[in-house]
Amino acid sequence: MPRRAEAMFRLRVGVLISGRGSNLRALLAACADTTYPAEIAAVVSDRAEAPGLAFAQSAGICSAFIPHHAQQAFAAQAEVFFRHQGIQLVCLAGFMRVLDAGFVEAWRDRMINIHPSLLPAFPGLHPQSQALAAGVRFTGCTVHYVRPEVDAGPIIAQAVVATRADDDETSLSARILSAEHRLYPLVVRLIAEERVQVVAGKVEIEGWQAPRRAMLNPREPPRKSPVRGWS
Ligand code: GAR
Repeated sequence: MPRRAEAMFRLRVGVLISGRGSNLRALLAACADTTYPAEIAAVVSDRAEAPGLAFAQSAGICSAFIPHHAQQAFAAQAEVFFRHQGIQLVCLAGFMRVLDAGFVEAWRDRMINIHPSLLPAFPGLHPQSQALAAGVRFTGCTVHYVRPEVDAGPIIAQAVVATRADDDETSLSARILSAEHRLYPLVVRLIAEERVQVVAGKVEIEGWQAPRRAMLNPREPPRKSPVRGWS
């Protein structure tokens, strides 16, 4: 059977945001490549003043502000909007609300989230500060399928970011964010290419390759050549 990309069919993605929208922009930038197998077909923000919403509107994306006075009412309106736009995958990109459990179930294994830590470590708010307070040498970001529990669900992909002695929340968040901007478009591509499936609660990715080497933080000192200086 031909893959989606080979059939020239682009997965229709809906994005839920609450604020800045830099991950939305990263996804839109990836979609600008006509060979990328997905397109952003709809954007919903729960905040009218979200910069990401203004950006989506200026980019001509079908966008809506849906106020989040109540979980169920928000979910019902988002559901109608996404269904009307023929959305096949929902991406949470800095969406800072807990979603209605019925909505989560309706989009089970078709809704993903990005979170700025190596889950299951540091879910919830300020994960970068949590990582610094814990003194971890590595943190990063995770893309996972959404389940009713906050920042939980089968992990699809992660990017590792080393912490530094002089890091504060701002500097660490910036490095993690730049990893997010690479990771999210990669995951959407893998899903659009139908390489990703959940099997017994864990994600399997066809054609997946892990890095070969361990990363150390701090790094090993550079090796001295055993021959240098020998006569
Ligand atoms: C990102 O760092 C994202 O991982 C995080 O909010 C930020 C949104 O930035 N999401 C969460 O913490 C979800 N638990 P953006 O609006 O610039 O994409």
